[in-house]
Amino acid sequence: MIKKWAWLIGILAMPALSDDGIFDEYRDLMGDDNPAIFVIDEGEALWFEPQGPRSASLEGCDLGLGPGVTAGAYARFPRYFEDTDAVMDIESRLLYCMQQLQGRDRDALLAKPYSLRGDMGTELEALVTWLAAESEDAVIAPEQAHPSERAMYALGEEIFFYRAGPHDFSCATCHEQSGMRIRLQALPNLTNHDEAAEAFGSWPAYRISEGLVRTMGWRLQDCFRQQRWPGLKLGSEVSVALQTYMAVNAAGGVMTAPGLKR
Ligand code: HEC
Repeated sequence: MIKKWAWLIGILAMPALSDDGIFDEYRDLMGDDNPAIFVIDEGEALWFEPQGPRSASLEGCDLGLGPGVTAGAYARFPRYFEDTDAVMDIESRLLYCMQQLQGRDRDALLAKPYSLRGDMGTELEALVTWLAAESEDAVIAPEQAHPSERAMYALGEEIFFYRAGPHDFSCATCHEQSGMRIRLQALPNLTNHDEAAEAFGSWPAYRISEGLVRTMGWRLQDCFRQQRWPGLKLGSEVSVALQTYMAVNAAGGVMTAPGLKR
């Protein structure tokens, strides 16, 4: 407890050093040692591991660039898939492949969509982390060719600016201006191309405060919570729409994930 307070006083006594400053320093100390590397390895192993009633691997999974093509696939999400006639984010696409190829039960897979603090991390989180690493340095290039993809962007934009809930907050309330912060945390302006690219391209990310890799789907449901909105479901239309909105605003930027966050 004493230690905790000392740490807090330390921060308060350093007005010039922001939260970002501290974590930038931490990142420098870590060098290239993002603990996410272990999760990347785990995700890769899971992709090739036969699982489920059909004892199949995910090697036949089509992430949009053809069955089994993983390099660069993450950077094109969210995207429209003909077989489901839906725009999907990476998590819902993986769930679909697990059902179709491995014969696994969707409800069981979604029983705990995101890991809790202290957990080892879920299979989906590991797979997403590996797939993001397979897109490292790739240009963020979400598809906007299909009418459903354009409709998803429009829906995402509408939700981004939609004010509701007990505080009458929208995403824009916290993420429409540059240089803002809440408590000690920097708030990216997600309507700005460069800031959207930096934010979007850095997820999934290893969260130092939680000792876990978190996905963009998780990030959004946590902002829903901060916004005092009802729980945001993994792979829901609202989640995919918001991800599409951010990805398109970020298009042309570079994928740096898995990131390292506070
Ligand atoms: C009450 C203010 C608030 C609202 C409203 C809010 N967020 Fe956030 N958002 C934050 C904070 C604070 C962080 C940084 C959290 C951290 O560092 O742990 C953040 C982080 C993010 C990030 C990650 C940025 C990065 O650089 O890593 C994304 C993406 C994001 N929010 C999207 C959204 C979307 C989409 C909505 C609307 C559904 C939303 N947020 C609503 C406060 C908010």
